[in-house]
This record gives sequence, C-alpha cells and structure tokens, in this order.
Amino acid sequence: MLTIQSEPFGKTPDGDDVVSYSLTNRNGVRVGLINLGATVTAVNVPDKNGKVANVTLGFNDLDGYLANAPYFGGTCGRYSNRIAKGQFTLDGETYQLATNNDPSHLHGGKVGFNKRVWQHEKVESADHVGVKFTYVSPDGEENYPGQLTVHVTYSLNDANELKIDYEATTDKATVLNLTNHCYWNLAGGEQATIVDNELTLMCDKYLPVDEAGIPIGELAAVAGTPMDFITPHKIGERITEPVNGNGGYDHCWVVNGKIGELRPAAKVVEPQSGRVMEILTTEPGIQFYTGNFLAGTPETGNAVKHGALCLEAQHFPDSPNQPEFPTTVLKPGEVYKQTTVHRFSVVGK
Ligand code: GLA
Repeated sequence: MLTIQSEPFGKTPDGDDVVSYSLTNRNGVRVGLINLGATVTAVNVPDKNGKVANVTLGFNDLDGYLANAPYFGGTCGRYSNRIAKGQFTLDGETYQLATNNDPSHLHGGKVGFNKRVWQHEKVESADHVGVKFTYVSPDGEENYPGQLTVHVTYSLNDANELKIDYEATTDKATVLNLTNHCYWNLAGGEQATIVDNELTLMCDKYLPVDEAGIPIGELAAVAGTPMDFITPHKIGERITEPVNGNGGYDHCWVVNGKIGELRPAAKVVEPQSGRVMEILTTEPGIQFYTGNFLAGTPETGNAVKHGALCLEAQHFPDSPNQPEFPTTVLKPGEVYKQTTVHRFSVVGK
C-alpha cells in the first residue's frame, strides 16, 4: 500500500513553517522530504535479506538543514554546478553572480534553492504518492534575471522508483540548471565509504575541467582513462587518478542517447548488502562526485571523505558561457521539463 504522511519539522529563523513528509510503499521503502530546499531527508530501502536502512545522508533536525554545507538531499538552482567567474551574458547584458566557490559560482549562489522555503502539496494517485513543491524565485534574486516559477515533484511507486519531475517557467530570459544533491551510501551505515561500490555510467564521454572545475569545452572519450565506467568498476580502483577532481571524482559525464528522453545514466551496486540503485534521466549530463569534501565533522553530518557519492543529473556546468553545450537558457513562453528516476533493487538474493 502507498501512504503519505506529514508532520511539522520546525520553523525557520524567519518564522516559516517547515513540514516533513513521509512516503511509503508496500515493500517497506520510505522516503523523507522537507519543504526547506525541496530536500530529500531519507531514503530507506531493503537489502538482499530484506533489512531496511537509510541510504542517503541527512541531518537529524532542522538546524542541520538550515546550515547544510554539503547540500545533502537538496534541490540545487537556479544554476546548479559551476559558472566560470560567476559571469554570463544574455541578450547583450552581462550578469555577475556570487562567486561562492571562489573563483566560480556554485549551486545558485549564497542562498540557492536548497535553502529556500517551498510551497508544498500532496500528490496521490492509484500507482504513486508524492509531494509537489513550488518556489517562485523573484526577478534579480542572486542577480539572476527574470521571475522563475519552479515545480519539483517527488513520487514513489511500488516498483521502488523515486521519480523527480521538474518544471519551470520564466517572465524574462534566464539560465537554469536544476538538480537533486542526494548523497548515497547504499550500505546504509554498514560501511564508512563508497570505495567498494561498483559503478556503471552509461556515458562514452565526459567533460575535462580546469583547476576551478570549469569544463575546458572538450567532450573527451572515457576509454582508456580513469573516467571509464562503461563496464562496472569499483569506485576506489582509480579514485586518486582523475585530473582536477578535488581529491576524487568531481566531473560531469555526457549521458549516452538523446537529451529529453528518459534513458539509463548510472547504476551503483553495493556488493555486501546487494543494494542496487539505477538512475534514468532526460538530462544531457550527470555529475559524479565522491564526497571529497566530507570531513568527518558535524558540518558534514559526521560523514568521512568518500563516505557517500552524488550522481547529479543535470545540464553541463558553465553552459551559459559555452555555446557548444546544450542550452540552459529559458525564455518566456517556454516550459522547462526534466525527469530523473532512482530505481532501487537488490542482487545476490
Ligand atoms: C558538487 C560539486 C562539488 C561540491 C559539492 C558540494 O557536487 O561538484 O565540487 O562542491 O557539490 O560540496
């Protein structure tokens, strides 16, 4: 049976109510969500023996999410990932954004969508339960042009799929790149790091980056490099080798197939528990980040370096400055759409 429940999760310093939702399905899967940042707070899934555990990093209370330096589970925007020097030009006008990841702009700036309070409503149908979050980002917020209305809908079904649907419209041309920033550790607390996880990326190419994490413009073949996950590899096997990976992997891969079509992008297998996560997306890229900045401190939820991994389906970083990349410009009258599915299963039963 699919169920949805909600309860108060506290108030922000500005007095806004934060509400926590819990979605469950007949297999014992439970997804936690809050409207601060349209954030995923928990994803509890069974292992090969049926033992259910949380496989995504989070904090215990609202204070944790108000600080949330690592962006645990949040919806990143208006432009997630990096924009070189925080600058772009649109319709002849140059915009200067915050360089909050010096010298680059990262995840929407000082107060990104992951720190905003979203409106929320339940979504229920015969085959899924979910929550639709809405945020209206004013014209000029974080120096982005145009009032942007964003909807992010999470839904869970009995096939153990967590689906994220994004939709956005604007009243003035703007740039946007939306993603979810869950940190996954499929061992559910049984293993400190993800180095033994086996990863497949349905990606023949990736985007090499400079020291600031900005793509140099080339779509490089992964074959023969540590970026090759066309067949499954243990993440730890070559984790010290990537160039400009911030101490591991921190790059965007080019998802094979057609942009706009929901197609497989990534698969993670945790051999001990047998838990498997597959990601399908309509997006052109997927940022694979191995939690290189996790530092074992309360600020990082006590997670250690490589204690979790992120697979962020999105457009390419710095697209507003790289005309060869698929466009991230949204114009009035257009409707931006994106779908990403996380499918959980087990092997070795
Ligand atoms: C993204 C970036 C990383 C890091 C994390 C947040 O994945 O690519 O470099 O900034 O977000 O800590």
